[in-house]
Amino acid sequence: MKLTSLLSPAAAVALLTAAVLAATTGVQATQDQPQTTAPTAQAAPAPPTGGAPAQNMPPGMAPGGRPMRSYPAPTNLQVLPKNLTGQQVHEIMEGFAGSLGVHCDFCHAADPKNLMPNGRPRLNFADDSKDDKKIARIMLTMTQQINADYISKASAMDPDAMGMKVTCGTCHRGHEMPEEFVIPKEQGPGGPPPAGGPPNGAAPPAAGTPPAH
Ligand code: HEC
Ligand code: HEC
Repeated sequence: MKLTSLLSPAAAVALLTAAVLAATTGVQATQDQPQTTAPTAQAAPAPPTGGAPAQNMPPGMAPGGRPMRSYPAPTNLQVLPKNLTGQQVHEIMEGFAGSLGVHCDFCHAADPKNLMPNGRPRLNFADDSKDDKKIARIMLTMTQQINADYISKASAMDPDAMGMKVTCGTCHRGHEMPEEFVIPKEQGPGGPPPAGGPPNGAAPPAAGTPPAH
């Protein structure tokens, strides 16, 4: 499998999160991210330098506005490159969540023995007990193969190629389950003709054209 394009952080984020990151502030799922209760550094407005009152600091922000929290290095990556940093994994994960319109806990199981100060359990991100996490790994492998084996070949011979890649969002478009695409009746090449026969002026089907059902 060609993972080379995933080895650069920029490529990894572009491949897997694409427009999602650009379109969100990256903090929509904070309630489900007990380890990251602060806005991400990119999303936070530049803080005033020096002397900002502590109570105005978002939790998790160190004086000076840098996030105190550094995301821990992943320990259980099986599809993504194992040398991704915690920050890179986090950005990809926000892409997953945004692409499916879910929060982190859709795929990641809570650990009832690891409670936050407010009593809610933290998520154990390395844990593999949720089926949706396992499905997501299959989806991730599929998406990588689509791009490496098919999209790259097609775009190599397409003068109009724009370098687009298939992402989770290409199919999911903000839904847990991709929605069925229904071809609008008036545009469907194979769609049934309107009741009463073909539209005015339409040529009758050429001989040999299979009848539309
Ligand atoms: C659609 C399912 C899905 C969603 C939603 C999701 N993740 Fe993940 N997450 C995964 C999968 C799959 C892996 C493992 C990837 C692999 O094996 O290469 C993973 C791995 C991780 C890891 C690395 C764990 C380790 O130590 O190996 C972290 C951290 C993580 N996710 C955080 C998050 C956060 C934070 C969110 C919410 C912003 C989130 N995830 C949302 C599916 C998901
Ligand atoms: C080529 C289209 C396509 C792409 C790309 C794709 N998916 Fe899917 N995904 C599907 C389809 C279709 C289903 C529903 C399969 C079924 O009927 O069970 C699905 C189902 C899922 C489910 C199960 C949802 C549920 O509620 O049971 C998860 C989780 C998921 N995808 C995650 C991802 C992630 C994460 C990515 C990106 C790494 C991704 N998918 C990329 C087509 C796609």
